[in-house]
Amino acid sequence: MTRGRCLITRNLTIPGLKARKGGIPLTWITAYDVLQAQVAEASQVDVILVGDSLGMTTLGYSTTLPVTVDDMIHHARAVRRGAPNTMMVVDLPFMSYALQADAVHAAGRVMQETEADAVKLEGGREVLATVEHLVAFGIPVVGHLGLTPQSVHEMGGYKVQAKTADTIRILLQEAGALTAAGICALVLEGIPDRVAAEVTNSLPIPTIGIGAGPGVDGQVLVFHDCLGLSTAYPKFVRPFAQVRTAMTNGLTAYREAVQQRHFPGPDQSYQIADAEWERHLADRGS
Ligand code: KIV
Repeated sequence: MTRGRCLITRNLTIPGLKARKGGIPLTWITAYDVLQAQVAEASQVDVILVGDSLGMTTLGYSTTLPVTVDDMIHHARAVRRGAPNTMMVVDLPFMSYALQADAVHAAGRVMQETEADAVKLEGGREVLATVEHLVAFGIPVVGHLGLTPQSVHEMGGYKVQAKTADTIRILLQEAGALTAAGICALVLEGIPDRVAAEVTNSLPIPTIGIGAGPGVDGQVLVFHDCLGLSTAYPKFVRPFAQVRTAMTNGLTAYREAVQQRHFPGPDQSYQIADAEWERHLADRGS
Protein backbone atom coordinates (compact mmCIF):
# COMPACT_ATOMS: atom_id res chain seq x y z
CA MET A 1 0.00 0.00 0.00
CA THR A 2 1.33 3.45 -0.89
CA ARG A 3 1.19 5.93 1.92
CA GLY A 4 0.67 9.65 1.24
CA ARG A 5 3.43 11.93 2.47
CA CYS A 6 2.32 13.95 5.52
CA LEU A 7 2.39 17.56 4.39
CA ILE A 8 1.25 19.05 7.69
CA THR A 9 4.24 20.47 9.53
CA ARG A 10 2.63 22.54 12.25
CA ASN A 11 4.40 23.95 15.31
CA LEU A 12 1.75 22.36 17.52
CA THR A 13 -0.74 19.50 17.33
CA ILE A 14 -4.01 19.31 19.26
CA PRO A 15 -2.55 16.76 21.74
CA GLY A 16 0.50 19.06 22.02
CA LEU A 17 -1.79 22.00 22.76
CA LYS A 18 -3.55 20.06 25.53
CA ALA A 19 -0.19 18.99 26.96
CA ARG A 20 0.74 22.64 27.54
CA LYS A 21 -1.76 22.74 30.43
CA GLY A 22 0.05 24.26 33.40
CA GLY A 23 3.30 24.60 31.42
CA ILE A 24 4.94 27.56 29.68
CA PRO A 25 2.02 29.91 28.97
CA LEU A 26 0.60 29.67 25.45
CA THR A 27 0.72 32.79 23.27
CA TRP A 28 -2.21 33.23 20.89
CA ILE A 29 -2.70 36.19 18.56
CA THR A 30 -5.47 36.96 16.10
CA ALA A 31 -4.70 37.51 12.42
CA TYR A 32 -6.92 38.23 9.44
CA ASP A 33 -4.64 38.50 6.40
CA VAL A 34 -1.42 37.22 4.90
CA LEU A 35 0.85 39.98 6.24
CA GLN A 36 -0.39 39.57 9.81
CA ALA A 37 -0.05 35.80 9.49
CA GLN A 38 3.55 36.10 8.25
CA VAL A 39 4.39 38.38 11.19
CA ALA A 40 2.69 36.01 13.63
CA GLU A 41 4.57 32.99 12.28
CA ALA A 42 7.90 34.86 12.28
CA SER A 43 7.25 35.81 15.93
CA GLN A 44 6.79 32.12 16.82
CA VAL A 45 3.45 32.58 18.55
CA ASP A 46 1.88 29.25 19.45
CA VAL A 47 -1.55 29.73 17.87
CA ILE A 48 -3.14 32.10 15.36
CA LEU A 49 -6.82 32.75 15.93
CA VAL A 50 -8.75 33.96 12.91
CA GLY A 51 -11.31 35.64 15.13
CA ASP A 52 -14.67 36.97 14.05
CA SER A 53 -13.30 40.21 15.55
CA LEU A 54 -12.27 40.67 11.91
CA GLY A 55 -15.74 42.19 11.59
CA MET A 56 -14.49 45.16 13.58
CA THR A 57 -10.73 45.22 12.93
CA THR A 58 -10.84 44.58 9.21
CA LEU A 59 -14.36 44.99 7.84
CA GLY A 60 -15.39 48.10 9.80
CA TYR A 61 -18.53 46.74 11.48
CA SER A 62 -19.38 47.84 15.01
CA THR A 63 -19.92 44.25 16.25
CA THR A 64 -19.01 40.71 15.16
CA LEU A 65 -22.62 39.91 14.26
CA PRO A 66 -22.55 40.66 10.50
CA VAL A 67 -19.59 38.33 9.87
CA THR A 68 -20.43 35.31 7.70
CA VAL A 69 -18.92 31.87 7.23
CA ASP A 70 -17.75 32.99 3.79
CA ASP A 71 -15.97 36.00 5.38
CA MET A 72 -14.22 33.69 7.86
CA ILE A 73 -13.14 31.30 5.12
CA HIS A 74 -11.90 34.10 2.84
CA HIS A 75 -9.69 35.55 5.59
CA ALA A 76 -8.60 32.21 7.08
CA ARG A 77 -7.37 31.04 3.66
CA ALA A 78 -5.17 34.14 3.44
CA VAL A 79 -3.88 33.55 6.98
CA ARG A 80 -3.06 29.93 6.19
CA ARG A 81 -1.10 31.01 3.09
CA GLY A 82 0.91 33.40 5.29
CA ALA A 83 1.44 30.98 8.17
CA PRO A 84 1.55 27.42 6.83
CA ASN A 85 3.32 26.08 9.92
CA THR A 86 1.38 27.65 12.78
CA MET A 87 -1.64 26.13 14.49
CA MET A 88 -4.69 28.06 13.24
CA VAL A 89 -8.05 28.21 15.03
CA VAL A 90 -10.97 29.75 13.15
CA ASP A 91 -14.09 31.25 14.74
CA LEU A 92 -17.51 30.04 13.71
CA PRO A 93 -19.47 33.29 13.30
CA PHE A 94 -22.79 34.40 14.78
CA MET A 95 -25.70 31.98 14.15
CA SER A 96 -23.64 29.64 11.99
CA TYR A 97 -23.81 26.95 14.71
CA ALA A 98 -27.19 27.61 16.34
CA LEU A 99 -28.56 24.52 14.60
CA GLN A 100 -26.43 21.39 14.78
CA ALA A 101 -26.77 20.71 11.05
CA ASP A 102 -25.56 24.25 10.29
CA ALA A 103 -22.63 23.79 12.68
CA VAL A 104 -21.54 20.60 10.92
CA HIS A 105 -21.76 22.36 7.56
CA ALA A 106 -19.92 25.52 8.74
CA ALA A 107 -17.20 23.69 10.68
CA GLY A 108 -16.72 21.16 7.89
CA ARG A 109 -16.29 23.93 5.33
CA VAL A 110 -13.83 25.79 7.57
CA MET A 111 -11.72 22.67 8.11
CA GLN A 112 -11.75 21.63 4.45
CA GLU A 113 -11.42 25.01 2.77
CA THR A 114 -8.94 26.77 5.12
CA GLU A 115 -6.75 23.98 6.53
CA ALA A 116 -7.68 25.13 10.04
CA ASP A 117 -6.59 22.96 12.95
CA ALA A 118 -9.66 23.69 15.05
CA VAL A 119 -12.80 25.82 15.18
CA LYS A 120 -13.90 28.02 18.07
CA LEU A 121 -17.45 28.72 19.13
CA GLU A 122 -19.01 30.77 21.92
CA GLY A 123 -21.40 29.58 24.58
CA GLY A 124 -22.08 27.07 27.33
CA ARG A 125 -24.89 24.58 27.78
CA GLU A 126 -26.59 25.60 24.51
CA VAL A 127 -23.62 24.32 22.46
CA LEU A 128 -22.75 21.13 24.40
CA ALA A 129 -24.43 18.68 22.02
CA THR A 130 -22.92 20.47 19.03
CA VAL A 131 -19.42 20.34 20.52
CA GLU A 132 -19.79 16.63 21.23
CA HIS A 133 -21.00 16.00 17.69
CA LEU A 134 -18.20 17.97 15.99
CA VAL A 135 -15.51 16.36 18.14
CA ALA A 136 -16.95 12.89 17.46
CA PHE A 137 -16.48 13.56 13.75
CA GLY A 138 -12.86 14.66 14.20
CA ILE A 139 -13.21 18.43 14.34
CA PRO A 140 -11.27 19.90 17.28
CA VAL A 141 -13.29 22.58 19.07
CA VAL A 142 -12.14 25.47 21.27
CA GLY A 143 -14.78 26.85 23.67
CA HIS A 144 -15.31 30.49 24.64
CA LEU A 145 -16.99 31.59 27.88
CA GLY A 146 -17.34 34.78 29.93
CA LEU A 147 -17.72 37.87 27.78
CA THR A 148 -18.93 36.36 24.52
CA PRO A 149 -19.04 39.15 21.91
CA GLN A 150 -21.67 37.41 19.76
CA SER A 151 -24.10 37.96 22.69
CA VAL A 152 -23.30 41.67 22.99
CA HIS A 153 -26.98 42.66 22.86
CA GLU A 154 -28.01 40.05 25.42
CA MET A 155 -25.20 41.22 27.76
CA GLY A 156 -26.13 44.90 27.25
CA GLY A 157 -22.62 45.76 26.02
CA TYR A 158 -19.06 44.48 26.36
CA LYS A 159 -19.23 44.02 30.14
CA VAL A 160 -17.10 42.00 32.52
CA GLN A 161 -18.96 38.75 33.33
CA ALA A 162 -19.02 36.30 36.29
CA LYS A 163 -18.90 38.93 39.00
CA THR A 164 -21.45 37.30 41.31
CA ALA A 165 -21.43 34.00 43.19
CA ASP A 166 -24.36 32.74 41.06
CA THR A 167 -22.74 33.56 37.71
CA ILE A 168 -19.39 32.14 38.87
CA ARG A 169 -21.13 28.86 39.70
CA ILE A 170 -22.72 28.75 36.23
CA LEU A 171 -19.39 29.56 34.58
CA LEU A 172 -17.63 26.73 36.46
CA GLN A 173 -20.42 24.30 35.55
CA GLU A 174 -20.35 25.27 31.88
CA ALA A 175 -16.55 25.11 31.68
CA GLY A 176 -16.66 21.58 33.14
CA ALA A 177 -19.48 20.51 30.83
CA LEU A 178 -17.72 21.87 27.72
CA THR A 179 -14.58 20.01 28.74
CA ALA A 180 -16.57 16.79 29.17
CA ALA A 181 -18.08 17.41 25.71
CA GLY A 182 -14.56 17.38 24.27
CA ILE A 183 -13.21 20.92 23.78
CA CYS A 184 -9.42 21.02 23.49
CA ALA A 185 -8.98 24.51 25.02
CA LEU A 186 -11.21 27.20 26.50
CA VAL A 187 -11.02 30.95 25.86
CA LEU A 188 -12.03 32.93 28.95
CA GLU A 189 -12.84 36.54 28.09
CA GLY A 190 -13.64 39.48 30.35
CA ILE A 191 -13.90 37.85 33.76
CA PRO A 192 -12.24 38.68 37.11
CA ASP A 193 -8.72 37.30 37.55
CA ARG A 194 -9.53 35.13 40.58
CA VAL A 195 -12.50 33.58 38.79
CA ALA A 196 -10.38 32.77 35.71
CA ALA A 197 -7.72 31.18 37.94
CA GLU A 198 -10.34 29.02 39.63
CA VAL A 199 -11.81 27.87 36.31
CA THR A 200 -8.27 27.13 35.11
CA ASN A 201 -7.47 25.05 38.19
CA SER A 202 -10.72 23.12 37.79
CA LEU A 203 -10.00 21.96 34.22
CA PRO A 204 -7.59 19.43 32.66
CA ILE A 205 -7.40 21.46 29.41
CA PRO A 206 -5.65 24.81 28.78
CA THR A 207 -7.52 28.04 29.37
CA ILE A 208 -6.63 31.04 27.22
CA GLY A 209 -7.41 34.41 28.76
CA ILE A 210 -8.26 37.78 27.28
CA GLY A 211 -9.10 40.23 30.02
CA ALA A 212 -8.96 37.33 32.48
CA GLY A 213 -5.76 38.05 34.39
CA PRO A 214 -2.55 36.03 34.67
CA GLY A 215 -3.87 32.85 36.32
CA VAL A 216 -4.68 31.08 33.04
CA ASP A 217 -2.70 28.75 30.76
CA GLY A 218 -2.21 31.27 27.96
CA GLN A 219 -3.14 34.68 26.62
CA VAL A 220 -4.79 35.85 23.42
CA LEU A 221 -4.82 39.41 22.10
CA VAL A 222 -6.31 40.99 19.01
CA PHE A 223 -3.46 41.76 16.57
CA HIS A 224 -4.43 45.44 16.28
CA ASP A 225 -4.55 45.90 20.07
CA CYS A 226 -1.27 44.06 20.63
CA LEU A 227 0.69 46.17 18.15
CA GLY A 228 -0.90 49.57 18.71
CA LEU A 229 -2.99 49.67 15.53
CA SER A 230 -6.30 50.35 17.27
CA THR A 231 -7.80 53.75 18.07
CA ALA A 232 -9.09 52.80 21.55
CA TYR A 233 -8.01 50.07 23.96
CA PRO A 234 -9.86 48.07 26.60
CA LYS A 235 -8.31 48.06 30.09
CA PHE A 236 -6.82 44.59 29.64
CA VAL A 237 -4.70 45.50 26.60
CA ARG A 238 -1.02 46.40 26.69
CA PRO A 239 0.12 47.56 23.23
CA PHE A 240 3.59 46.10 22.63
CA ALA A 241 4.37 48.47 19.72
CA GLN A 242 2.99 51.72 18.25
CA VAL A 243 2.44 50.64 14.66
CA ARG A 244 -0.48 52.97 13.92
CA THR A 245 1.69 55.97 14.82
CA ALA A 246 4.59 54.60 12.76
CA MET A 247 2.27 54.06 9.77
CA THR A 248 0.72 57.52 10.02
CA ASN A 249 4.14 59.15 10.37
CA GLY A 250 5.41 57.17 7.38
CA LEU A 251 2.51 58.14 5.12
CA THR A 252 2.69 61.78 6.23
CA ALA A 253 6.41 61.84 5.37
CA TYR A 254 5.60 60.29 1.96
CA ARG A 255 2.92 62.91 1.20
CA GLU A 256 5.25 65.73 2.20
CA ALA A 257 8.10 64.34 0.09
CA VAL A 258 5.82 64.08 -2.96
CA GLN A 259 4.45 67.61 -2.47
CA GLN A 260 7.95 69.05 -2.04
CA ARG A 261 9.27 67.06 -5.04
CA HIS A 262 11.78 65.23 -2.83
CA PHE A 263 10.37 61.88 -3.91
CA PRO A 264 11.26 60.10 -6.11
CA GLY A 265 14.97 61.02 -6.21
CA PRO A 266 17.64 59.62 -8.55
CA ASP A 267 17.96 56.49 -6.40
CA GLN A 268 14.30 55.63 -6.94
CA SER A 269 14.38 56.41 -10.71
CA TYR A 270 15.53 54.38 -13.73
CA GLN A 271 18.37 55.87 -15.80
CA ILE A 272 19.12 55.61 -19.53
CA ALA A 273 22.69 55.70 -20.94
CA ASP A 274 23.72 59.21 -22.14
CA ALA A 275 24.64 57.93 -25.61
CA GLU A 276 21.23 56.34 -26.07
CA TRP A 277 19.50 59.51 -24.90
CA GLU A 278 21.57 61.58 -27.36
CA ARG A 279 20.50 59.24 -30.17
CA HIS A 280 16.89 59.67 -29.13
CA LEU A 281 17.25 63.48 -29.14
CA ALA A 282 18.81 63.33 -32.59
CA ASP A 283 15.97 61.05 -33.81
CA ARG A 284 13.34 63.41 -32.61
CA GLY A 285 15.27 66.33 -34.18
CA SER A 286 16.00 68.53 -31.22
O1 KIV B 1 -12.82 37.09 17.68
C1 KIV B 1 -11.84 37.17 18.44
O2 KIV B 1 -10.84 37.85 18.17
C2 KIV B 1 -11.90 36.42 19.69
C3 KIV B 1 -10.86 36.74 20.71
C4 KIV B 1 -11.14 38.07 21.28
C5 KIV B 1 -10.75 35.69 21.73
O3 KIV B 1 -12.75 35.63 19.87
